[in-house]
Amino acid sequence: MAAAHGGQIDTVMHEERRFAPPAEFAQQARIKSLDEYQALWDQAAADPPKFWADLAKEELHWFQPFNEALVWKEPFAQWFVGGKTNVSYNCLDRNLAAGLGDRTAILWEGEPGDTRKLTYAELHQEVCKFANVLKQLGIQTGDRVSIYMPMVPELAIAMLACARIGAIHSVIFAGFSAEAIAERNRDAAAKLQITADFGWRRGKALALKDTVDEALAKSPTVEKCIVFQRGTGKASGTGSGANVPQAKMQPGRDFWWHELMKEASAECPATPLDSETPLYILYTSGSTGKPKGIKHTTAGYNLYVKKTFQWVFDHREDDIFWCTADIGWVTGHSYVVYGPLSAGATVLMYEGAPNYPDEARFWQLIEKYKVTIFYTAPTAIRAFIKWGDQHVKKHDLSSLRLLGTVGEGINPEAWMWYHRTVGQERCPIVDTWWQTETGGIMMSPLPGAIATKPGSCTKPLPGIIPAIVDPDGEPVGTHQGGWLIMTHPWPGMLRGIWGDDGRFKEVYWTRVPGKYLAGDNARCDDDGYYWIMGRIDDVLNVSGHRLSTIEIESALVSHPDVAEAAAVGRPDDLKGEAVAVFVTLKRGVPNDAMREELKKHVRHEIGALAQPDDIRFTNALPKTRSGKIMRRLLRDIAAGKETSGDTTTLEDFTVLAKLRHNEE
Ligand code: PRX
Repeated sequence: MAAAHGGQIDTVMHEERRFAPPAEFAQQARIKSLDEYQALWDQAAADPPKFWADLAKEELHWFQPFNEALVWKEPFAQWFVGGKTNVSYNCLDRNLAAGLGDRTAILWEGEPGDTRKLTYAELHQEVCKFANVLKQLGIQTGDRVSIYMPMVPELAIAMLACARIGAIHSVIFAGFSAEAIAERNRDAAAKLQITADFGWRRGKALALKDTVDEALAKSPTVEKCIVFQRGTGKASGTGSGANVPQAKMQPGRDFWWHELMKEASAECPATPLDSETPLYILYTSGSTGKPKGIKHTTAGYNLYVKKTFQWVFDHREDDIFWCTADIGWVTGHSYVVYGPLSAGATVLMYEGAPNYPDEARFWQLIEKYKVTIFYTAPTAIRAFIKWGDQHVKKHDLSSLRLLGTVGEGINPEAWMWYHRTVGQERCPIVDTWWQTETGGIMMSPLPGAIATKPGSCTKPLPGIIPAIVDPDGEPVGTHQGGWLIMTHPWPGMLRGIWGDDGRFKEVYWTRVPGKYLAGDNARCDDDGYYWIMGRIDDVLNVSGHRLSTIEIESALVSHPDVAEAAAVGRPDDLKGEAVAVFVTLKRGVPNDAMREELKKHVRHEIGALAQPDDIRFTNALPKTRSGKIMRRLLRDIAAGKETSGDTTTLEDFTVLAKLRHNEE
């Protein structure tokens, strides 16, 4: 996050404003006061496995009860051992059994303005049918299914259908390139691909199937591909379909979703699955070039996302919940699909961009669907500020009662704007800290109980016991920064990195032996509030998306003209962090054409989200005597700051001088 390297950190450190939960909100909340929160937290901390086991019995359906809450063979956790349940059952059948069949599960709007609505009964039917389709194509419990789709209800249907039969989904955000899809497909040894012919983004129809065709040429384990037909989404008369991409179907390999569904039976009982059956793999960036396949399993994850959804968003049955994240990221997995649906909530799902057809689209959607809870990212909030208050003010946002943020630290200025302009000083803001690895929200204000301070994610949820330590694993004092760790296992935690136990142990459990190392720096203030202060590793947070510097560097050096490359983050007012790269060429001319060529190359290797913002050419990179690239120095140069650190170990001072003057 920008605060780690930029000037924001000072602002955050001195933030003293406090906002108590509005009395009216607190009165009706699930957890109504700080005392109530503290009592629950203390009770959970006294015996976390018992606390979670009691909740698991209440909140999930068990085909077979579990006999042990937690088996902890560090660092491998098994929760609710001996039990059998099913996430799709908990999200659908359990709600039908509770009489919620007619309740709306998904309200959907496509970017062109087309709409759909699915009740729990309808969603159940679609999921059952698609689960039968999967079976018919030979998919069994434990098989990996790769999903590359736009934000359409069928994406959630595909995930829930996998969960229903115990197939493991790997959803890949639809902005990733063919190379990135293929790399993930090979790592997971995916058997089936699900995609759509195209999806809408900022008025353009993105040809997803073409990208998938390129990926499948390099995904030897994928046998078949199901293609959902998006439809133009335009009002009749305007949507001839002539100007949208046409999927090229490969006979024997590719099947249309709608054709398979026509024949499918709507009878498909959920398979009773062991609690630890893998539910999904989700790839995220770490500090090496290869993305990590974070593995989540059935019962623990399901319980964790359901409870955290209820606690943090203080869910009530008449809420319309809108999490703006794409399902391709963990936020979408946990708080568009699994958390809200297992709680019987109504979610809004929107396909497209926030500024299409204009910058008021989100506010127009909130007014139209009477959204009550709005959960978005600081990077979006900073864009809204830039676009201007007039877009917000045009719309009636009186339905809103709670706001949330996720993905990166929020600067107090953006927090205050969100509070005043969107929340009209009426809605509490929950700043939720968590990670792909944690499965669900770990630290956040409970909106009826915990006073907020702009820029702080406040306190850990019940059952979550964090600490801040120095590199020897010793707790640091109040106000001192250090590494954020979790001292106890929790049900939503990752169960491993797909196919790489060694990396799992090394990345998360070795530097502070036996404790979960989150990879973030943090500090705690006198009130026990946590302040996240950025990463401890070479992971960037660009617009709330996690990117590894080494992944970008690997992409650059795979270009035939590049000898060496270093990627660093620099503070950016809109994105939080922007990607700056320093490149030495082995041939070719260091000019704008080469810059464009390299940007295109990174887009091709990873996706548009990783495209560098700045490219600087240099004769050599500054390195220590042991050959390590001096990233801190490059970060300062990228940010336009004088170098502050010790540079006496620089091998070549002329390199530094050249970079400073941006010579090429
Ligand atoms: O650095 C933290 C930052 O995002 C990282 C996790 O990224 P990812 O796995 O992609 O998940 C993002 C959505 C859950 C964290 O290690 N981060 C996330 N939320 C916050 C945050 N930093 C500060 N405040 C937050 N609320």
